[in-house]
Amino acid sequence: EASKNIVITAPSGVEEAVRTKIIKATPYRGKRIQVSGWIHRLRQQKGFTFIVLRDGTGLLQVILSGDLSNAYQTQRLTLESTITVYGELHPLPEGKSAPGGHELVADYYEVVGLAPSGDDAFSNQLQADTDPSILLDRRHLALRGDALTSIMKVRAALLKSIRSVYEDEGITEVTPPCLVQSMVEGGSTLFKLDYYGQNAYLTQSSQLYLETCVPALGDVYCIQESFRAERSHTRRHLSEYTHIEAELGFLTFEELLGHVERMFVSLVDKVLKDPVAGPLVKQLNPKFEPPQLPFMRMTYVDALEWLNEHGIPNEDGEEFKFGDDIAEAAERKMTDTINKPILLTRFPVEIKSFYMEKCKDDPRVTESVDVLMPNVGEVMGGSMRISKLDELMAAFKRENMDPAPYYWFSDVRKYGAFPHGGYGLGTERILAWLCDRFTVRDCSLYPRFPVAVTV
Ligand code: 4AD
Repeated sequence: EASKNIVITAPSGVEEAVRTKIIKATPYRGKRIQVSGWIHRLRQQKGFTFIVLRDGTGLLQVILSGDLSNAYQTQRLTLESTITVYGELHPLPEGKSAPGGHELVADYYEVVGLAPSGDDAFSNQLQADTDPSILLDRRHLALRGDALTSIMKVRAALLKSIRSVYEDEGITEVTPPCLVQSMVEGGSTLFKLDYYGQNAYLTQSSQLYLETCVPALGDVYCIQESFRAERSHTRRHLSEYTHIEAELGFLTFEELLGHVERMFVSLVDKVLKDPVAGPLVKQLNPKFEPPQLPFMRMTYVDALEWLNEHGIPNEDGEEFKFGDDIAEAAERKMTDTINKPILLTRFPVEIKSFYMEKCKDDPRVTESVDVLMPNVGEVMGGSMRISKLDELMAAFKRENMDPAPYYWFSDVRKYGAFPHGGYGLGTERILAWLCDRFTVRDCSLYPRFPVAVTV
């Protein structure tokens, strides 16, 4: 029975309760604690109020009973209100389950910020949008949901883990600029902007800058936003994505491929061993199988043969022939059928970027590699780079590019040429693979793609 007469007062000793975050609460079982957070779930039943409290580190079941449950203040509680709760932390009785395996038996709580009820209630905010995977203009609120919260935690662990992989390999982190005046991956996807009255662009890839760093710092990597004015509205394209790129000096193409497969195995191992992210990946993607060494290697020409044998047509609905792009649909069918990681190598010169080194045994193709993962397709693109100045100049000419703005890039060949290669990983695509997401949009904090930016 709710009553306006019941006023909640602080019991004595409240100030002695240990303040803790939910994730660190376990050692305080049997003790008095205080926890602050948002009301994630709320249920009232037979004189009890059950709250699942969320503080960003985890979830905690809280039980209010007696006057505490019946008080007017408690009856007015809403989802996403913030409260500070005081009480004793009890291990759960046999056969019951709740996050962390315990529950907080509250003896007092304070409302910090009451969220609206009625039309403005949190639950109505999220139902307003019909597409649950996007909820674009409500993204700031959708982030509080279980799935997005989990993916963002895996994302944090992924970034931490890749840094750790590179540290193990002795690769140095650098932070190249976003504002650039040259293109890397083709002019059609450049975002142009006014830079003090001159043309500049948002970076498509930091590769060219990374190449200039190798002679100074040795092998380098960066984690930087890349921008693509993508015409393709697909489930794996964003206009802005987090690009993890590495550039390595004095190695062969075979060594680059070896580095790539080891990097993937070590990266996934670290994410799965992460105490926060490991269990989340298992929850989001119970069937996930960590990649095994060595990865399957397949050349572009072998892939065309495979596609033709399996009756999968090219973009014109015909049999694949040398020089055709393997577009997303065909690539996905092949990857999903083979159902394990593939290193797809040796793409033709004409469908790849200007900077790629040609294969010594066949100058029609390049020392290039895409990594394809089941359920997503391409998650990584890389290659060996042209290391000789005259060959680079010939490539500029072939592609009708003015070499002048690239003088600093050419200088990498002029002042001490060296064999080198590298690659770029799409963070959101790796996450879509790890967390079994239909679209990379679920794997970006505030995804950008060709619609208006609202949040
Ligand atoms: O294959 P891409 O275009 O390669 C490069 O940019 C090279 N310069 C990288 C390098 O060698 N340093 O892009 C690399 C990866 C892709 O495999 C994909 O995972 C991701 O970046 N990517 C995108 N992810 C989301 N949205 C887009 N529009 C993407 N474009 C590329």
